[in-house]
Amino acid sequence: MSADRIAVAGATGRLGRHIVDVLTERGHEVVPMSRATGVDVITREGLAEALTGVRTIIDAASWHASDGDAATEFFRTATRNLHDAGREAGVARIAVASIIGNDRAATGFGAAQQVHEAANLAGPLPARILRAAQFHEFVGQLLDWRQGDVAHVPTWPSQLVAARTVAEELVDLATDEDAPGQPAPGTPIPEIAGPRREIVAEAAALLGARRGITVVGVDSSDLPGSEVAAAGGLLPNPHARLAGPTFAEWLATQL
Ligand SMILES: NC(=O)c1ccc[n+]([C@@H]2O[C@H](COP(=O)([O-])OP(=O)(O)OC[C@H]3O[C@@H](n4cnc5c(N)ncnc54)[C@H](OP(=O)(O)O)[C@@H]3O)[C@@H](O)[C@H]2O)c1
Repeated sequence: MSADRIAVAGATGRLGRHIVDVLTERGHEVVPMSRATGVDVITREGLAEALTGVRTIIDAASWHASDGDAATEFFRTATRNLHDAGREAGVARIAVASIIGNDRAATGFGAAQQVHEAANLAGPLPARILRAAQFHEFVGQLLDWRQGDVAHVPTWPSQLVAARTVAEELVDLATDEDAPGQPAPGTPIPEIAGPRREIVAEAAALLGARRGITVVGVDSSDLPGSEVAAAGGLLPNPHARLAGPTFAEWLATQL
């Protein structure tokens, strides 16, 4: 595998920062792209300049909230801009982070990821997609969304995974010169998940105990997609690659 110039959209995010680390450790030249680095994938500000000489784009940019319509618009526009600017710059391919179970969602963020995937597969750049389970790092955000000292967290099952583990898998996929440019029809989209099924509210309670926050598990039936999630809709398919650390092992490594 040779070293390449690789642009990372969402380079400052939960996943993106690990992608930057993994690429740097492997000797690639990284172009970090986020509004904080002067590149906006929605307005295209700074995008053409950032993609100069880039061979591969890794897309880990995301909408900041769970509202399905706004997230759909974000992913549709960002994907069109990354593909169009990428083609103009002579980029060879794009690798994209998505979410396990989005194909089971009828509404909300999961449905937005269906649009994200479809827009990528429509091209013009050859796209490789990796679906990931909820990140260990996402559990902290659920605590941050609380009001007062009590966090109400869904009791959904998820095979929580470390963002670093997802970053390694996505970089492998993005830089594999032997992989086909586009998945063959009928081939399942690759998935990466943690080593075991966890209950999101139980993981949040472990983190909450450290932060002095009480966590109450709720069925969250008012949230879009909650019925599907409660029934196991966030869990990986049998072809998923499973990799540690578990949530508790990961938490033990956090300061
Ligand atoms: N979080 C999870 O548990 C999880 C699980 C599975 C899959 N995923 C998927 O993984 C991807 C990354 O998620 P994440 O949780 O790492 O996201 P995140 O922490 O919210 O980070 C989002 C990134 O996107 C950038 N961004 C937002 N708007 C932008 C714009 N207009 N132009 C350029 N950059 C922009 C942000 O930087 P600036 O604010 O500086 O622009 C930030 O770097 C998403 O597709 C998500 O659906 C997430």
